[in-house]
Amino acid sequence: MSQSDELFGTLKARAARAARHSHSPYSGFAVGAAVTTEGGRIFAGCNVENASFGLTQCAERVALAAAVADGAAPGSLSFLVIYTPGSTAHPPCGACRQVIHELMAPGSRVVSCCEGADTKAWRIEECLPDPFTPEALRDPSQSG
Ligand code: THU
Repeated sequence: MSQSDELFGTLKARAARAARHSHSPYSGFAVGAAVTTEGGRIFAGCNVENASFGLTQCAERVALAAAVADGAAPGSLSFLVIYTPGSTAHPPCGACRQVIHELMAPGSRVVSCCEGADTKAWRIEECLPDPFTPEALRDPSQSG
């Protein structure tokens, strides 16, 4: 088994464990995510829904926020695995793609997986083509 396969297996296990803690009574759709730093620290998250539906937090963003809160430098995050129970690997939503792009290292990997063998994989540049970036906030032609 390659080092990369081994890391994927570890992240999948952590994401699956987090998915078991999902608070998703409204959708019934559990999601877990686990992200690692280049130094090998791992942070997990699950989706957390709310009766006020718009307050729902996605698993990916919970995991990434946990990493930042623990001091992981934005840009040091290199591999994110998303897990859903069942036999289909589901891609991350658009909002999560924006946050993934902001916080993960250039060239880093995102893999969706599930209980079965199905996977989908992206480099972050493929995951969010033509992203909105911090450079936009420094646009000198904006007068406001
Ligand atoms: N969800 C995630 O956790 N990540 C995504 O990328 C897509 C959707 C959650 C939000 C909600 O709790 C449930 O899945 C159904 O949308």
